[in-house]
Amino acid sequence: MKKINIAIDGTSSTGKSTLAKQIANKLNYIYIDSGAMYRCVTLFAIQNNWLNGSHFDKESLIESLPDIHLKFALNKEKNDQTIFLNGIAVEDEIRSMEVSNAVSRVAAVPEIRRAMVRLQHEFGKDKGVVMDGRDIGTVVFPNAELKLFLTCSPEVRAQRRYEEMQQKGISASFEQVLSNIKSRDHLDSSRADSPLIKASDALEINTENRSVNELLDHVLKLIAKKS
Ligand code: DC
Repeated sequence: MKKINIAIDGTSSTGKSTLAKQIANKLNYIYIDSGAMYRCVTLFAIQNNWLNGSHFDKESLIESLPDIHLKFALNKEKNDQTIFLNGIAVEDEIRSMEVSNAVSRVAAVPEIRRAMVRLQHEFGKDKGVVMDGRDIGTVVFPNAELKLFLTCSPEVRAQRRYEEMQQKGISASFEQVLSNIKSRDHLDSSRADSPLIKASDALEINTENRSVNELLDHVLKLIAKKS
């Protein structure tokens, strides 16, 4: 079967990463979590005290972009893929509420987007990549052979994210998670540069009433048709 690139977009916690990981495992594709890349840049800004409450020293962060090295690799301890920021596995740190609350501001900066998209192109140049995010089907891989746009209500998404965070021991109330999801939906969809929109040739799938396995089966059939 010919390898293709698969773009999965949608708001947060619609099930993009679960689906993308399963596709990657099943077909031996490379999974790239583009949201984790923006989260790492946000964490880097926080660590350097450039981002704190309403204070955001965008210029220092942009100047330091060449010092941010991102890599996806297996975290042997967790037997799961994780992102490494300058050689350090930061999967848990980038999922904190502090990072979640600040990431949309960082992801709205055009210079940062350009740097991330350059890296994402590099990851996808040999095909066989499944990438999830907000602008994958519209900006990163406009020629992806398969584009999916996942949807789901904010309440169900907040419940999923809340349970995920509880399992990981990250503290936050359901209300905080829901409010974060709603505010990110708004910021990510209304920003000037590469807002979250459905590509005209993307297939929209509501994940609310589908089991993970049903969704995977459905998508594997779509991939088989394209390969
Ligand atoms: O998928 P996620 O929730 O981990 O993404 C974190 C943030 O990164 C999200 O609020 C918007 C931003 N993002 C983006 O702007 N473009 C992408 N391709 C992926 C994520």
